[in-house]
Amino acid sequence: MSVKVSRRAHFNAAHRLYRPDWSDEKNDAIFGKCNNPHFHGHNYELVVSVTGEIDPVTGFVIDIKILKDLIKSEIEDALDHKNLNQQVPEFKKLNPTAENIAVFIWNKLRPHIESSKKLEVVLYETPRNFVTYSG
Ligand code: NI
Repeated sequence: MSVKVSRRAHFNAAHRLYRPDWSDEKNDAIFGKCNNPHFHGHNYELVVSVTGEIDPVTGFVIDIKILKDLIKSEIEDALDHKNLNQQVPEFKKLNPTAENIAVFIWNKLRPHIESSKKLEVVLYETPRNFVTYSG
């Protein structure tokens, strides 16, 4: 019997989306307000889900406290109140779009989750805009 267990988390971060090899006009056309050269913040909402068999001994798929601590140490400590472009090495040359941040989060968490279990990351950049990555 496979069950999906989810934990919601939150972080604030600043970013700028642009390509240095494009003109200002093209950056504005493609990235809009997210191309603000002075950066801007988003209140990111994160939902991390682990799917797997229920352990017959504990009754858990994953101990949610372990998942909570993992999200804190691997994701919130790395991203919360950070300028993603300037302070997170992975985004020095990679645009910190919601898509790329979701993949970053998945890659950070995946080694810590039992390989028999499925991991899914849903990242909300705004209440209406969100992306999903599951490997
Ligand atoms: Ni933005």
